[in-house]
Amino acid sequence: MIGIYPGSFDPVTNGHMDIIERSSRMVDKLVVAVLCNRAKKPTFSYEERVRILKQCTAHLGNVEVETFDGLTVDFARRKGAHMIIRGLRAISDFENEFSMASMNKQLADDIETMFLMTNTQWSYLSSSMVREIAAYDGDIEPFVPAALAPQIKKALRASLQEEK
Ligand code: PNS
Repeated sequence: MIGIYPGSFDPVTNGHMDIIERSSRMVDKLVVAVLCNRAKKPTFSYEERVRILKQCTAHLGNVEVETFDGLTVDFARRKGAHMIIRGLRAISDFENEFSMASMNKQLADDIETMFLMTNTQWSYLSSSMVREIAAYDGDIEPFVPAALAPQIKKALRASLQEEK
């Protein structure tokens, strides 16, 4: 069973890591799929996001990190995956995730979306909050993979300087 875990990961948080670690135990291979949508301007380049994700998933033998552009279901098909994994934090996630899973099912009936409830410890956490904390010079260390916090902080600072 191959699963894909698609997302923006801008940047990866401990909430994402919780979903990656738990779902990697449920499939033979997990592909973490970084959306590189040229229309969106992310804070981290997709190369940086892939590099960071590869580092923080290096301890998981069955996890690969790749980028994709276009429809998630098309990428899933190319990878031979029949399962899309998504994390659900609070009720507020449900509406958007429900629409996306329903549309993906309509587009590809053979691909199922499986939801994991994010560990309650991280149920309030999002990449945008991490970016905001960094923008105001707050401490992001508790919210991102510990070994990568300095790198993530540095990249966020650099991108904020660029914006000024
Ligand atoms: O981390 P995110 O931003 O919540 O991830 C959203 C993502 C990448 C899963 C979603 O935007 C996506 O699947 N985009 C690719 C286009 C697509 O397939 N959309 C769903 C059907 S319209």
